Amino acid sequence: MLRGKTAQKIPVGLLGATGAVGQRFVERLADHPWFELAAVAASDRSKGKSYAEAARWRLTSALPERVAAMTVAGVTDELPCAIVFSALDAATAREAEPLCARRGMLVFSNASAHRMDADVPLLIPEINPEALGLVARQQKERGWKGAIITNANCSTIFLAIALAPLQREFGLEKVFVATMQAVSGAGYPGVPSLDILGNVIPDIPEEGAKIEREVARILGRMQDGAVVPAPFTMSAMTYRVAVEDGHTESVSAGFSRRASASEVENAWRDFRGSAEVAALPSAPKLPIHYLSEPQRPQPRRDVDTERGMATLVGGLKPCPLLDWKFTVLGHNTIRGAAGASVLNAEYAAVQGLLD
Ligand SMILES: NC(=O)c1ccc[n+]([C@@H]2O[C@H](COP(=O)([O-])OP(=O)(O)OC[C@H]3O[C@@H](n4cnc5c(N)ncnc54)[C@H](OP(=O)(O)O)[C@@H]3O)[C@@H](O)[C@H]2O)c1
Repeated sequence: MLRGKTAQKIPVGLLGATGAVGQRFVERLADHPWFELAAVAASDRSKGKSYAEAARWRLTSALPERVAAMTVAGVTDELPCAIVFSALDAATAREAEPLCARRGMLVFSNASAHRMDADVPLLIPEINPEALGLVARQQKERGWKGAIITNANCSTIFLAIALAPLQREFGLEKVFVATMQAVSGAGYPGVPSLDILGNVIPDIPEEGAKIEREVARILGRMQDGAVVPAPFTMSAMTYRVAVEDGHTESVSAGFSRRASASEVENAWRDFRGSAEVAALPSAPKLPIHYLSEPQRPQPRRDVDTERGMATLVGGLKPCPLLDWKFTVLGHNTIRGAAGASVLNAEYAAVQGLLD
């Protein structure tokens, strides 16, 4: 089927198309080899307007003319597609996403509303591709023809990717993370400039708890058709900083067995998803880039690596409290949101879910 060989692209819809993540979806779908944006939907504030009028386009790439001219639909309207990407806020997603799934659509969601539902995949194809198996359970138990497939909170995705090889090679016992999250992570218009300029705002609401439970779920294992969370102890603190794009994370990790610096670095350097995942159009060539130069990674210099799909790791040092400490960086609206969802949809396609 697919695999980039079909003449006809698959029409897809986009819920929450006008927001910060929605705009990234528009950008990433503009030249996608398999998917073509066929419908855009947002709130009643935007419904009926042209996309160009409704969305205040803030990306540096040009708004595609075809999308600019599209009329924005409402999120509960019937859309002419079997796949929708969702960049809705959680409260709206809670109702709108199941409605689409009941109508037979596959919903690839960024919202937190259904991430922790026992029968909903929380998917990072390089780490837990088997989570996609929950789709069959979801469809059976809920009587839906469609399904909801989610990607994690933005900070969770980079952290889970950086931790996955360490968990596999050395076992994880304890993890502490403090995040420094970009303003684009709060959507548009997001945090008022007078609150964030020259400032750091601690304790992003609900974010730390989301990171703790989502990382445990992604790094867990499937048993009897259910996810058993990874058992290590984790503590997350979150901060909003005056950076435009890119969440930086300061991590300390304690392992089950001793590991040297070169073993840890090699675990990151050698980490790959399956060959099938690596061949997907949105997959980065290397899921993790380990930067050995001092004072890296940095959002301004590194966040666009691999079109924003790479997870950057650097600054490995012995930790006097746990075993090792290091810095992680990722692009919050690309690998942390729109790019991750598109990768999930590509993986679902090669698994035959879109046939
Ligand atoms: N920003 C990130 O880095 C990031 C990363 C990962 C996940 N996420 C998640 O992705 C989702 C979108 O985030 P965002 O940053 O793009 O937010 P945003 O900029 O505030 O955009 C929200 C979108 O939802 C629509 N919307 C809001 N209220 C609605 C309603 N009552 N009915 C229908 N549509 C409504 C908005 O349409 P209008 O323009 O018409 O108001 C807009 O298209 C959230 O669930 C967020 O947690 C964000």
